[in-house]
Amino acid sequence: MRTNFVSAGAPLGCRERRGPNRNCCSRYFVSGGYNAATVALTPGDRLGPYEIVEPLGAGGMGEVYRARDTRLGRTVAIKILTAEFSADEAQRLRFEREARIISHLNHPHICVLHDVGNQDGMEFLVMECVEGQTLAQRLGRGSLSIEQVLKYGAQIADALAAAHAQGVVHRDVKPANIFITLRDDVKVLDFGLAKRDDVPDPSAPTVTLALSEAGSVLGTAAYMSPEQARGEALDARTDLFSLGSVLYEMTAGRRAFDGRTHAVVFNAILNATPTPASEFRKDLPQVGAHPG
Ligand SMILES: Nc1ncnc2c1ncn2[C@@H]1O[C@H](COP(=O)(O)OP(=O)(O)OP(=O)(O)O)[C@@H](O)[C@H]1O
Ligand SMILES: [Mg+2]
Repeated sequence: MRTNFVSAGAPLGCRERRGPNRNCCSRYFVSGGYNAATVALTPGDRLGPYEIVEPLGAGGMGEVYRARDTRLGRTVAIKILTAEFSADEAQRLRFEREARIISHLNHPHICVLHDVGNQDGMEFLVMECVEGQTLAQRLGRGSLSIEQVLKYGAQIADALAAAHAQGVVHRDVKPANIFITLRDDVKVLDFGLAKRDDVPDPSAPTVTLALSEAGSVLGTAAYMSPEQARGEALDARTDLFSLGSVLYEMTAGRRAFDGRTHAVVFNAILNATPTPASEFRKDLPQVGAHPG
């Protein structure tokens, strides 16, 4: 599963440097190791057989690029994991074990994981490049129809059930990790990538985060389970709680648990009951209503 790609054209420690074969990624090698803060691959950079085409986005665990597998001529998505993730041996081993399982699942609603690689100490994963939009992007335009909630909800639940049956817990079920494909099906991404210490330390002093950073951290916090918010051990039930929050948002058009700071979000997760979604839209069956 894990491939070690040796950088053939340029030595470690290079910065802003490309070999003639363009097989050295620019700007991420710093003093013999790579620095996540400066990772930035440019079109044409190579990671073994994979050639970077363009950036697709970035999240808490790294940067994502569209790339071409030069051996098979197919398009893939490559996620470069942060140095922090790569350096955490226990975390990395757990991820690799789970990646191996996920790559064998062959489930229609789980994003295919093709490969896991390491080049010059930089950990990356190679996955199916999903065309479409994330559920987070879709939710930015409001709630979904009841038919869509049921269809997507059943597909996400089926993907999670398949992973859980193999002992893999996602740990970060949220709209940004769910894609709606051009065929109008969903794909769940990023199994096993959430770090245990992604949960912010409630005793830490308040810090001012850059807006995008604050948004993405809060975006993750909003879908956490109570046991995650408390920093406790997790099992498959954490995914079910998060799925419930996602289903609520798809239906109500607003987050089940929301707030401007982690303290407010966690307080809501631990102590509050969301307003019934039926209060925000009249086409929902009323809770407790019996037909006829
Ligand atoms: N397999 C993929 N195919 C196509 N685009 C992808 C793929 N994976 C990620 N992306 C794009 O890259 C963006 C960043 O993904 P990433 O997983 O790094 O961030 P995130 O989901 O917002 O946060 P987190 O790090 O918590 O998962 C996504 O929003 C999406 O646009
Ligand atoms: Mg993600």
